[in-house]
Amino acid sequence: MKTSIKIALLSCCTIVMLQCTPTSNPCDPMQNMGIGPIEKLDLQPLNTNMAADGKKIYDQLCRVCHDEIRQMEGPAHRGIMNRRTPEWIMNMMLNPKEMSQKDPIAKILAERVNGVEMADMNLSEDEARKILEYFRTLE
Ligand code: HEC
Repeated sequence: MKTSIKIALLSCCTIVMLQCTPTSNPCDPMQNMGIGPIEKLDLQPLNTNMAADGKKIYDQLCRVCHDEIRQMEGPAHRGIMNRRTPEWIMNMMLNPKEMSQKDPIAKILAERVNGVEMADMNLSEDEARKILEYFRTLE
């Protein structure tokens, strides 16, 4: 192979590699941290008390538009921990408006329901964290 072609190939590969290994790729659901107050969240072993509190809040505030298994106005939540980062889920709960307008994944979800955006339920970080714990039981 000619040296010039080798160099061209090598630089191409380098560019592709650099583009594919950012710390947070918003198009990869398991890397995307979302947009909002939560930047880093380390999960500890499941806290069943928090999960039980989270289910109560979910029943009161979220069930109007969501279900664990059925697609309602919003998507079904079972298995959500396997397809999104905890940070993204927290930011979706705490900052749904901006997420629905700017985050590539939330935007697609909103487009699927004809541009209906998730309602801002004014959750505290503590409430959102409890719901996240409930989501961990839905795998
Ligand atoms: C008024 C209806 C409505 C209410 C109430 C609502 N949501 Fe949503 N939710 C939506 C819609 C519509 C979407 C998808 C569109 C979007 O991205 O905005 C969504 C998306 C989501 C997602 C992303 C789902 C996925 O598969 O990635 C999560 C997580 C979520 N909602 C959690 C909650 C929680 C927790 C509550 C209660 C505190 C709640 N939602 C209350 C309508 C609602």
